[in-house]
Amino acid sequence: MNLKGKTVLVTAGPTRERIDPVRYLSNFSSGKMGYAIAERALLRGARVLLVTGPVAIAPPDGVQVIAIESALDLLDAMQAHAPQADIVIQAAAVADYRPAQVSGQKIKKKDGGAMTIELVENPDVAAAVGKNKRSDQVFVVFAAETQNLLENAAAKLRRKNADFIVANDVMKPGAGFGVDTNIATILTPEGQTEYPLMRKEALADVILDRALALLEAR
Ligand code: PMT
Repeated sequence: MNLKGKTVLVTAGPTRERIDPVRYLSNFSSGKMGYAIAERALLRGARVLLVTGPVAIAPPDGVQVIAIESALDLLDAMQAHAPQADIVIQAAAVADYRPAQVSGQKIKKKDGGAMTIELVENPDVAAAVGKNKRSDQVFVVFAAETQNLLENAAAKLRRKNADFIVANDVMKPGAGFGVDTNIATILTPEGQTEYPLMRKEALADVILDRALALLEAR
């Protein structure tokens, strides 16, 4: 299905939460899932905004790239750009916590004993986007789980006020972080559909088809 005339905003990659000038907390997201969605949306005629954490892959030519580093940067970017989008898809892996203080200097090793870093909670960016979602927008989030996939994803779907959630069990071979394929279950408030292992581009098309169908039904 064609996305001509539609604006699709996709988030991709990890966030980095700084500890000091040389260290950060992050996760294993490569950006492949979000970049596949951006690429497929572009090929299908959409205007694409790609809000991306630091990754080692190149964005598709023709997308508008908004580079972010931390969860707080992501919040700013989404507040600025989400209102212009018809479809918002959050595939980025966002840190739930960040260091309470960012040291201005490299933290020095002390002799003996443990090192403790105090963490504070990051804002739930998706929940903020979901709260401000207009009735003419479609909002899609992901759930990266290692256990209780469906229960945890269903709770996130409600908490983030999304139209549907793409749940992936990141412990399964061929799913989740770093690989070119994924295995997903899509949950809506009405029900769920399980998809077999497929390339991330193919899952991107499934997600875009479902988002467009919802948009056109409004
Ligand atoms: O990048 P790849 O290597 O291709 O890997 C793909 C992926 C595993 C990163 C992707 O398929 C995926 O599952 N993305 C979501 C990762 C994640 O952060 O999941 P979560 O269950 O912690 O978060 C749920 C949703 O809320 C996500 O849409 C996330 O973007 C969002 N979130 C989470 C925390 C937070 N503070 N703010 C958020 O907006």
